[in-house]
Amino acid sequence: MARSVTEWVTVTGDISIIARESGEVWFHSPSSTKEGVDPFATPMTGAGAAGSTVGLLDGAINLGFAGIEKRLARPDPTLVNYTVALVGAYHTSVDTPRNLQRAARRFNELGRPEVAAYLEERAREETGHDRLALKDLRALGLPAECLVANFIPEGIKPLCKRFDDLCVQDYPIGCIGYSYCLERIAALKQKTDVEKVQAMCPDGVDATRFLRSHSGLGSEVTHVEETIEFVASLPANDRISVVQETYESALIMAEGYNHEFLKSEAEMLAELQQAVGEALPYRLSCYRSHGEKRGARPAA
Ligand SMILES: [Fe+2]
Ligand SMILES: [Fe+2]
Repeated sequence: MARSVTEWVTVTGDISIIARESGEVWFHSPSSTKEGVDPFATPMTGAGAAGSTVGLLDGAINLGFAGIEKRLARPDPTLVNYTVALVGAYHTSVDTPRNLQRAARRFNELGRPEVAAYLEERAREETGHDRLALKDLRALGLPAECLVANFIPEGIKPLCKRFDDLCVQDYPIGCIGYSYCLERIAALKQKTDVEKVQAMCPDGVDATRFLRSHSGLGSEVTHVEETIEFVASLPANDRISVVQETYESALIMAEGYNHEFLKSEAEMLAELQQAVGEALPYRLSCYRSHGEKRGARPAA
């Protein structure tokens, strides 16, 4: 009988993620093990399997988000925080095809056509997603181009920079970990999340094109499944790098959530107002802060 695959990756100085093909995942602290008896002290070298690779990838996301989940609840959408999230969605989408194609060219130069082909396919699939966000903003009666030209939510900036930096590296395998992190989190959004947004939009307004496509209802689910299969097929050193970057991206994304969550509606509205330099449509500008802190969920 073939032995079940076990994979492991050290993501911080003191935490390794260990995952079995059967679905078991746990975190391991090397310092808690006696020197010389830690079986996970040396990097894994064996082949991957989808069942264990997904455990590592999702374990990395859970670890990166560990700090946020305890402190902040999932906020209900308002037209204001949804608008900020759409602007963020535009910025995390607009350069994706170009960045992925650049990374693909590098893998062709490195003699890794299979990685290049995967990234080219991803680049094709992601093309036009920035336009979905623009259409949604326009549907809400906003001057979409002006808004995105003048405003990048603070919590989103480090995420965009991370992806830009990863895609120009000499060995840009980390861009797969970044993309997985964003797509996996987007795929968690369900029909009820879409319905909540639809319920607050004016009658006849469809402002959920981006959200539907980047949720459990859209193509994101397939993208996530295909990425798991692909990462599982990579050599061990590539899988290690992808999982480590998934963790780093989750940390950056969680920090962005924290930043945006702590803003009030009034602060977010002021940022939008400043960006467009003109009166916002009535439905947005009539929102008032009721003293509660509600923020935008940076959208993937
Ligand atoms: Fe997308
Ligand atoms: Fe996607």
